[in-house]
Amino acid sequence: MKLMIINGPNLNLLGKREPEVYGNTTFEDYFGKLKQKFPKVQLEYYQSNIEGELIQKIQEVGFDYDGIILNAAAYTHTSVGIGDAIKAVTTPVIEVHISNTHQREEYRHVSYISPVAKGVILGFGLQSYDLAIQSFLG
Ligand code: DQA
Repeated sequence: MKLMIINGPNLNLLGKREPEVYGNTTFEDYFGKLKQKFPKVQLEYYQSNIEGELIQKIQEVGFDYDGIILNAAAYTHTSVGIGDAIKAVTTPVIEVHISNTHQREEYRHVSYISPVAKGVILGFGLQSYDLAIQSFLG
């Protein structure tokens, strides 16, 4: 089982960015824990602040990996291009968010990812990623 976690803009600042919303843990630390918890899963992680690079990565892994776990962050609410990339590839994509975006500003209630994702997991903090992995293990 080969899974790719893709994080979008500003998620490189997890741990110091708005800790009251996103927590105190860096993604690197959390990723280490995920790898320990799922030793049989080939788990990889990519982060970019640049929309085109996220699209590039989706295209790169999207015909080969068993699953993509995507937190497109702010691009979730704006990016037709990322939505189209998900539609174009064959690998199923689970949309994840750390916060419950539906409890937040109205512009975060819109997602260009949800209609093309296999499923959506949001609002469980970093555990959202763990739940997404479990969903692929079925
Ligand atoms: C986020 C929610 C988005 O609205 C926001 O722009 C982010 C993070 C989340 O994981 O809760 O950067 O995707």
